[in-house]
Amino acid sequence: MIHSGHHFLQIPGPTNVPDRILRAMDRAVIDHRGPEFAKLGQEVLEGLKSVFRTTNPVLIFPASGTGAWEAAIVNTLSPGDRVLLFETGHFSQLWRQIAERFGIEVEYVPGNWRSGASPSEVEARLAADAQHSLKAVMVVHNETSTGVTSRVAEVRQAMNRARHPALLLVDTISSLGSIDYRHDEWEVDVTVAGSQKGLMLPPGLSFNAVSSKALSANTRARLPRSYWDWKEMLAANRAGFFPFTPATNLLFGLREALSMLLEEGLANVFRRHDRHAAATRAAVRAWGLTIVCEDPREYSSSLTAVFVPEGHDADRLRKIILEKFDMSLGAGLSQLAGKVFRIGHLGSFSDLMLAGTLSGVEMGLRLAGVPHSGGGVLAAFDILVTETSESSLHLSP
Ligand SMILES: Cc1ncc(COP(=O)(O)O)c(C=O)c1O
Repeated sequence: MIHSGHHFLQIPGPTNVPDRILRAMDRAVIDHRGPEFAKLGQEVLEGLKSVFRTTNPVLIFPASGTGAWEAAIVNTLSPGDRVLLFETGHFSQLWRQIAERFGIEVEYVPGNWRSGASPSEVEARLAADAQHSLKAVMVVHNETSTGVTSRVAEVRQAMNRARHPALLLVDTISSLGSIDYRHDEWEVDVTVAGSQKGLMLPPGLSFNAVSSKALSANTRARLPRSYWDWKEMLAANRAGFFPFTPATNLLFGLREALSMLLEEGLANVFRRHDRHAAATRAAVRAWGLTIVCEDPREYSSSLTAVFVPEGHDADRLRKIILEKFDMSLGAGLSQLAGKVFRIGHLGSFSDLMLAGTLSGVEMGLRLAGVPHSGGGVLAAFDILVTETSESSLHLSP
């Protein structure tokens, strides 16, 4: 079917790339060893720090987020090391797989894919590890397969209460630039991120923000690494360069994305995401459908995952919405396949884009014959037209 107007890309990343960023990238490639590049490199490496909320270095790899996952592991750990990783969903499972392929022994804390990492469980497991054989705690901040966040600040407090020296490695691939996150304040040792979600860029860049403790662990870590080696990257970055050919035009886009985020103000960016998430949840509740995330403290502001009623197929619903309304929604992944659809409301996004998105879902529910009540879009309007305090956005019933 031929559609006019623009496609609605409402998967939870890659997200809609704003025209400003597309225009910033639409230019001739420059010499990546020349003075113009050095200025660009230094600007983005410095600018990124404010988004991660760190004064330490942030490393940029030309790669998808998976590369930054691998970089975090190979730069800090040694073969046979033990780590604690929480089962939050599909993405925790994939991160576990990478660690195990490198010979890391993963203590995988089982979860029901509806809740985040438990700070009390972190404390109990670390307190029981008197020998300090656990070398890292690994947490996915925003589990993109379920729309559940983990409370990273509380995880860090639990680690400190247990007085355990393990590193804290956090995946912020679908939260950075969308949900409040503080690398330094929360004493995170490695933050993993990617370009294609809150940063509003196409896929292709991935990031490691590091702590001094992570840099010191790097000098002892014995896992094999070459492309992902922090040492070579940090040495070249000092002058704004890279040890290999960087993704030059994505970096022009990144410079623009950082300007946009800072112009809006990070606090406003997070508030916008919180509002859109609250409005989406209001719609889902009015439809009478179930949100995957169980605990209001763990609601994601970048996406909402929704169960379709038993006996109905979420993929058929998504197919109808794509064909009829030219809108892509996120699929249920792994054990949630066919049971769940995911509404992405992160990145470059506005009230009217959300209203259009929710209208497409509500019309799709009707067309697909999924049992629901009408009025979800109107319920979302109530949130969109009301100024609501931040805390009530998170916890509204
Ligand atoms: C939370 C999370 N971690 C890791 C990844 C993997 O990133 P990529 O697909 O960019 O390699 C994704 C991708 O969506 C993600 O959402």
